[in-house]
Amino acid sequence: MLTVALPKGRLAEEALIWLERAGWPLPVSADERRLIVPSRDPGLSYLLAKPIDVPVFVEQGAADMGIAGLDVLRERAADVFEPLRLPFGYCRLSVAAPADRPQRPLRLEISPRVATRYPRLTDAFFRRRGISAELIVLSGSVELGPLVNLADLIVDLVETGETLRANGLVELRPILASQAVLIVNRASYRLHNEAISPLIAAMRRAIARAQEGDVF
Ligand code: PRP
Repeated sequence: MLTVALPKGRLAEEALIWLERAGWPLPVSADERRLIVPSRDPGLSYLLAKPIDVPVFVEQGAADMGIAGLDVLRERAADVFEPLRLPFGYCRLSVAAPADRPQRPLRLEISPRVATRYPRLTDAFFRRRGISAELIVLSGSVELGPLVNLADLIVDLVETGETLRANGLVELRPILASQAVLIVNRASYRLHNEAISPLIAAMRRAIARAQEGDVF
């Protein structure tokens, strides 16, 4: 029996579309309240997790495979096999600041307070630049930080830029380009290779077909 961890929320819909295109047995229910969902194939079931937790479920072997954003994969520093990038969930993790902030280089910042859901990646980014940032770790609505003077800067995901604009913020610097990734537990990949390899191959073919112009 293989278990596949799927992210709830933003990536969920496209994840299902790509599972279908690849011909994987689909979850029988899309009700996000049901957290373990069988498929029509008794050999494969799904679990629905918060996106940030998908790498943990897979790394620990609670799920054999999963679909995760590269952003959370790197934030969790999960040691998993990453056989395939998936063509959706494109966004970037960026530093942003209030639009009315004087336009000065980041390197001149002195101990900025930075609100983020990504403390590991944020810390690494500022350390590399020799800036000692004070991290303010939030779990959502990070854009509020500068608005209520909780933070000077934020580090958060940007897709269209609408959320930044709506809150008077501007993007200063991308930290990481992200997209969805198919991930596999390393032990599962060895132990269940006969079942897992064909699934990866089917997904790879679906992506190739799409790139040839069938889908987009
Ligand atoms: C993400 C991110 C931004 C927004 C960016 O939040 O945290 O708030 O999307 O997208 P945009 O550039 O297209 O406006 P998400 O919708 O995933 O919700 P969350 O913050 O509750 O996780």
